[in-house]
Amino acid sequence: MKIKVNPKVLLTLLVFFLFNGNIFAAGGDLDGVMSAMTIVTIVTVLFIAWLVVVYAELDDVNGEKFLKPLRIFNRFITRSTPMEKEHEILLDHDYDGIRELDNKVPPWFNFLFYGTIFFSIVYLIQFHVIGSGNVQEEEYQAEMQAAAMQQEILIRSGALLDENSVKFADDAATLSSGKEIYMKNCASCHANDGGGLVGPNLTDKYWIHGGGIVNVFKTVKYGVPQKGMISWQTQLSPTEMQEVSSYILTMEGTTPAAPKQPEGEIWVPEEENVDDGTKES
Ligand code: HEC
Repeated sequence: MKIKVNPKVLLTLLVFFLFNGNIFAAGGDLDGVMSAMTIVTIVTVLFIAWLVVVYAELDDVNGEKFLKPLRIFNRFITRSTPMEKEHEILLDHDYDGIRELDNKVPPWFNFLFYGTIFFSIVYLIQFHVIGSGNVQEEEYQAEMQAAAMQQEILIRSGALLDENSVKFADDAATLSSGKEIYMKNCASCHANDGGGLVGPNLTDKYWIHGGGIVNVFKTVKYGVPQKGMISWQTQLSPTEMQEVSSYILTMEGTTPAAPKQPEGEIWVPEEENVDDGTKES
């Protein structure tokens, strides 16, 4: 059995495979990766098309029995005239040696053409009569909603929580969790009541590295390694650092059993530092 394969067909298939990954990527839903199902479907369709269009046309293949239905189907969808009869449909014109066959419009082409018209009617009714008619806008809204939900999940999981977004929280859950973290990790150096041991007193108004949730969060996160304060970002999650920082801030003004001398400077929250004209100089 000798099979001649039209190189043009092979080239077309190759180009198709190279490009359709990108086409699907533009679809968005598949995240640039075709599902196995899509690939299997495409390969199957291409194989059937090849069988009918190329293979069935080959004259020197054995197994006529197997080819017969394929050839009938081929004739049915292409209505092509067999080579030996081509002289019957040859037009009289001769354009510098180029001659033309008066082939019929192939039915597969008409199926496709009428098919698109049929599809457009179904589409129109489905999306613009039965549906709301605002297909793009709805898709947009749905995507925005999904994105907002994802962001919400990220925020709740604490993955987005850092010194730029951290907020002081004084709800019972945060503070009890913060206290637990403090007792376990921090009390050894800052004392159970925050009065200070190796580490400084956390109950007074004086801060070495600044008070307020943002500064405290930063000190906890990055630490002051050269002074013996560990960086906690590898051991505590952002949420846990936010909880323990909030807890520390609630200690201010309490009276520890053995307070260490204040260190650093009195910290004034930023809002009050802003010169709004009410303060002199
Ligand atoms: C190994 C001892 C040690 C442990 C454990 C420790 N700290 Fe500290 N911490 C220190 C020292 C020492 C300093 C002072 C650093 C300096 O002088 O710059 C400090 C400073 C701080 C400051 C800054 C205080 C200021 O005045 O600016 C904060 C806030 C703080 N620690 C919170 C914590 C928290 C929260 C934990 C537990 C998660 C913790 N520390 C655990 C030793 C420790």
